[in-house]
Parts: sequence; structure tokens; C-alpha cells
Amino acid sequence: MAKERIGILESAFDPIHQGHISMAQAAMDQFQLSHMLFIPVGNDAYKTCIASGEDRWKMVVSACTQDVRLVPSRIALDQPGPAYTADTLLTLKKEHPKAELYYLLGADGVMKLHKWHRLPEVFPLCTFLIYPRAGEYSPREFNAEKKRLTEMGARMRMIPVNPITVSSTEIRSQLSLGQPAPFLYSPVREFCTLRGLYGSVPRLDPETTSVWLDKLFSALNPKRFTHSVSVAGTARRLARIHDINPDQSEEGGLLHDCAKCLPMKQMQRIAREHSLTDDPEILSSNGLLHSLVGAWVARNMYGMADPEVLDAISFHNTGRPGMSRLSMCVCLADYMEPTRDSYPLMENVRILSELSLERALLMSLEGTASYVRSRGKYLHPRTQETIDWLKTLPGVRSSR
Ligand SMILES: [Fe+2]
Ligand SMILES: [Fe+2]
Repeated sequence: MAKERIGILESAFDPIHQGHISMAQAAMDQFQLSHMLFIPVGNDAYKTCIASGEDRWKMVVSACTQDVRLVPSRIALDQPGPAYTADTLLTLKKEHPKAELYYLLGADGVMKLHKWHRLPEVFPLCTFLIYPRAGEYSPREFNAEKKRLTEMGARMRMIPVNPITVSSTEIRSQLSLGQPAPFLYSPVREFCTLRGLYGSVPRLDPETTSVWLDKLFSALNPKRFTHSVSVAGTARRLARIHDINPDQSEEGGLLHDCAKCLPMKQMQRIAREHSLTDDPEILSSNGLLHSLVGAWVARNMYGMADPEVLDAISFHNTGRPGMSRLSMCVCLADYMEPTRDSYPLMENVRILSELSLERALLMSLEGTASYVRSRGKYLHPRTQETIDWLKTLPGVRSSR
């Protein structure tokens, strides 16, 4: 049986960007790697990291949700004291004794390899996969150094891709200037802004937000956390377009799924103990129950006291007749945030959302209703009631 081939991308990830992701994907494709470990280094090893290890970790976890082959690892972050690559590789070799390890390194990294601690120990443990990256050296110097290291026992293969033209330094500068950062995965960008990282200006109270982000990160799975951060940003953007309070909208977006990953039994207990609903259909469905319980959790465990935001959380999945425009923002952002897979109806909703919240929400709810019905599943009557109500609104009626 062929040996498992595991890739390793160890970096500060300060912050992680799409250059890291595309390079990892190119290496996995070219060298038939089963997966790529994304290993953020601890602050001890890289004294120059700007964001904390935990913030960099959250961003890496979010960015890795883009491809199941990307696997975040805390192996260096959790190592007491400075984590050297030799230690990381030795640990991985123990965990996967039969696997072949492939260590991704930029061409500029090759020129710095001679500075590594315990370099001779590293050579037999892995093959270096070198990706092209510009640096202050000539091709001749690079080739000479590569030859010298190979003679010392290093195994090196070049990844045949175009050079990466993005760096974390460049991205940090874009963030500090409030410019678009196209090489950042959009939820990572939202996270940076929510946390006020790299000179970006936080829009909500940074202390409260940082407590919420920590809680959400531990309460939700990586995809749900990433989705929540993305809904927050989308809800804020919609609120700005439609002249709704952007802070309330962003708060609702961030917290809307705070109960989504609770075990059903716990959600049912909360619902019963606090008389949130006695509807058996809601009590037996995670999809329906998590919004009602979410509002309770947001109020009691996240300190959210704003009734309008709580209402938006309560009905983010079904909507409700008479719902506020703030609730519409959260509901719509939940449906169309950018990490959701695209399909024709979704694109139409995204376009329409810039023109009319009501019409876009109607289109999305009708889409959901027909999807649910086509699969023979239960559609909560409140969704249909919301659809019927939206159709009576003046701006919607005149456009149909
Ligand atoms: Fe939800
Ligand atoms: Fe959601």
C-alpha cells in the first residue's frame, strides 16, 4: 500500500491569506498529498507576530474550512517554550510513523535554512517542497544554496507554480489603511475588523466583541463560526445600504447561530424550562429550535439586552409577519453570506438585496420553501405566513 503523504505548512499566519491556501492546494495536487497541516507557530518562535497566537489560530481554523484537505494543527502553539521545526517534525513522525512528510518552504526560506536550529536532524524527517517566491537573491545564489543543502542531505522538490505575489505584510498594510484586502478570505477579513487587528478600526465595542468571539469559537464548529462572522459582516453591509442601524445588524448577525451547535437535549431543556415554545414541530427540529434558544442564549450567556437584536435572532430562520427591517437584514445575511455555495437563485437574491430588502427576502424564503417542500420535509407555517405578509407590502406588491 502506498505510504500516506502529509504536507506541512508552518508559518506565523499573521494573518493567513489566500496565497497560503492556493500554495497548499497546488502542493497537494502536484505531489498527491492526502492533506496539509496548517501549523501556526507560537509567539515564542516568532517574536515579531503582531496578532496573538489565539487570534491567528482562529483565523487559520476559519480559512481551512475552504477545503477539507486543509487541517489546522496546534502542535507548535501548544508546545511549551519555543517550538522548533525539528520538534514539530519529530512529534509528527511519532504520530504518523508510516507517513512521508512534505514540508512547504518558500524559496526565500531556503536561503535562511542554514539558520535553523538542529538542521541536520530535520533532513531525514521530511522532503522540502519549494514554492517560488521573490527575495533578495539571484537565481544563481539560490541554486548554489539548494545544491549545498542537497549535498548535506536535504531532499528538495520545486512546486511548478507561478510565484506568489502576496505577503502578510502587504495585507496588514491594506487593513491598516482600510483598503480592500482581496487576498484575505472574507470571513478572515471580517474577523480582523471585529477584533481590530492590524490597525483596522473595530466597529463594535472591541472588549465585548472579543469575549463573544472567544465564546462563539468554543461553542460552534469551525464552519459555523466562520459562517457567523461572515453573516455579521454581510448584515452590516446590508444595513448600511438600507439605512438601518449597522451595529445592531452586525451584532444580530454575529450571535444569530450562537445555540446552533448545542446538543438537542440541552436546547429542548432550555426551551421547556424558560417556556420558549410548546410547538412540538419546533421542539423536535434543530433547524427551527436553535433560533428561539439562540435568543435566550444571546441574552443570558452573551449579555445581549437589545430586544430588537434578540427578535432578529429569534426569527432568523423563518422570518415572521411584521418583522423589522433589522430582522430582515439578519435573515437575508444568513441566507446569502459569501461563504454559502452559489447557485442561480442565490445570485439573484444577492443582486436584489442591494435594491430591496423585502423583495430579496421574499425571493429567498420562497426558494427555501420550495426546496423544503420538494424534498418532502416539514415547512414551518411561519415561513409561509412571512411569505404571504411580505407580498402585501407596498414595495413588493407593486413590483410583482
Ligand atoms: Fe441559523
Ligand atoms: Fe446561520
